Amino acid sequence: MSDPTWQQEAAAQALERLLPRLRSALAAAQAADAAGYAAFEARLQREWPRLFTLLLRLYGGQYDFFYQLEQLLLLAGWAWSERRPALRALDAQREADPHWYQAQHVLGAVLYVDRFADTLAGLREHLPYLQRLGVTYLHLMPLFLAPTGNSDGGYAVSSYRVVQPELGTMEELAALADLLRANQISLVLDFVFNHTSDEHEWAKRARAGERTYEHFYLLFPDRTLPDQYDQTLREIFPTVRHGSFTWDAAMRRWVWTTFNSFQWDLNYANPEVFRAMGAELLFLANQGVEVLRLDAVAFIWKRMGSSCENQPEAHWIIQAYNALTRIVCPALLFKSEAIVHPDEVVKYLGLEEAQLSYNPLGMALCWEALATREVRLLSHALATRWSIPTGCAWINYLRVHDDIGWTFDDDDARSLGIDPWGHRRFLNAFYVGDHAASFARGVPFQANPATGDARVSGTLASLAGLEQALQRNDPTLIDLAVRRILLLFSVMLSSGGIPLLYVGDELATLNDYSYAHDPARADDSRWVHRATFDWRRAAYADDSTRPEGRVYQGLLRLIALRKQQTAFAGNELTVFEPGHASLLGYVRQHRGQRVLVLANFSEGTHGIAANRLRLYGLAYQFRDLISGQTVSAEGVVQLEGYQVLWLVGY
Ligand code: GLC
Repeated sequence: MSDPTWQQEAAAQALERLLPRLRSALAAAQAADAAGYAAFEARLQREWPRLFTLLLRLYGGQYDFFYQLEQLLLLAGWAWSERRPALRALDAQREADPHWYQAQHVLGAVLYVDRFADTLAGLREHLPYLQRLGVTYLHLMPLFLAPTGNSDGGYAVSSYRVVQPELGTMEELAALADLLRANQISLVLDFVFNHTSDEHEWAKRARAGERTYEHFYLLFPDRTLPDQYDQTLREIFPTVRHGSFTWDAAMRRWVWTTFNSFQWDLNYANPEVFRAMGAELLFLANQGVEVLRLDAVAFIWKRMGSSCENQPEAHWIIQAYNALTRIVCPALLFKSEAIVHPDEVVKYLGLEEAQLSYNPLGMALCWEALATREVRLLSHALATRWSIPTGCAWINYLRVHDDIGWTFDDDDARSLGIDPWGHRRFLNAFYVGDHAASFARGVPFQANPATGDARVSGTLASLAGLEQALQRNDPTLIDLAVRRILLLFSVMLSSGGIPLLYVGDELATLNDYSYAHDPARADDSRWVHRATFDWRRAAYADDSTRPEGRVYQGLLRLIALRKQQTAFAGNELTVFEPGHASLLGYVRQHRGQRVLVLANFSEGTHGIAANRLRLYGLAYQFRDLISGQTVSAEGVVQLEGYQVLWLVGY
């Protein structure tokens, strides 16, 4: 960002004026940790011009801009002064090794505390289970105070500073963060910042008519503006409600609710909201959270006549929060959750925005290739859509708590001779079992007859065919399903960035249909893949005669291999053409180390001409890390159904 001179001068002037106030507010903290304070002020000097410019763009038109600026600076100072010595030490450590998360030993996992271990105390006890898997990044699904009954799986937050009482307390969470860190595991939590629940104190005060808090949300006395906005908005949960607004009888106003009626969108055009949520963000950072998952980033800024998704201001807000965290708690990273068009997903990635992002395209196309037995869309995406700003990382995953949406680009599909709409219809039918040849057992999510749009719920194992195979009690089908699961895991673990395991998938957990009997969940099919962790399955982890054991053991081996291969660090990836529609090929490379990945997305046996391996592998002899066998680059190298090779030349 190169700012005009006047802006740079204005930024410098503002800081000069505000610094004495900051210093006097922090005198005691400075006396207690002079070196720490010096580092903080150095970071402030470094990041201030950027923060100032972003805030000027966002809020420069507000009459009280300089007041807001001062308050924000004091907030930053206060948050730094509250930061524990261990976290300040972590800040220094991460600044010295800023790309630590690109290492090949980094492995993510995500779980619901209650479903995995009942409570935070239970989670401590079950830590060895996660350690055995090699987890170094642990995302705990929203665990904040939330309404009883339907809270959108915790994504309706009533207080960012209170842990849901059934799970434990904030003190326990901070202590857990320390314990995890001592075991080289980074704690990841959600920052649900697009909306609060309607039971949040701010919402209650807005309801009570307090002007300050009315301006925290987007409230309308009648349908005039909501109707205008609705014309260009996408419906996110169309089976729950039409339009993006909810009538609140107590306030006698329409409230902007992009998701459920009890999730009130925050008004980021109000600098008080930016600051209030900034305080919550820094509070969480000071509990020892190392990565904040920025929930629903695409929606935070509204503009009449637009889709109100991915607006430039949404980026500026995240960038401004990024600058704030660089100053106060540089160990903290952001992970963007933008489940939108791939062109937009990548725009949230940047060292000055979100360092990490989900890779929903990669996820969806793995499933697409599994259904079609053709890798062309996936291969095309790997070749054209994988590269991201230096230092950033994709979060590569197969399943999370959400549905699968077919977010590939229509033109990408057309360029490969695929009709995008017909293809999406096929994929939906395939995965919800409406297709005769399908192995999958998924459930539709948010099917919208008006637009023809639909998404898919289901666990990894059920979508990959294990549920159907077990029902048919067919060993061949069971074997194929296990192979599919391991194929997908091998791509997740070898295609760059941070692989993220949805805990339960390592044991081939099947769909849980019991949600349909719970009124708070019945209309949200995503609960089908949010099963309570079944410790009886875990007891089979080492039993290789059972699917649980085969998947678990296979995955454990892949994880161990990944952790040993420098080539799997970072994001550098080159696609190559193995010469068969079902075969995916790419080279991973890092610091002079190379691994050739070959994956067969079909049940048939297919070969690759060995001279191609020579060409891309730069060697004549290879060792397949997975099977341990030698592969010679002569003749044709065969891959059995769903087989994967991780080849290292020698
Ligand atoms: C994100 C969450 C999803 C939730 C939505 C609203 O997309 O992953 O589960 O429903 O945000 O907070």
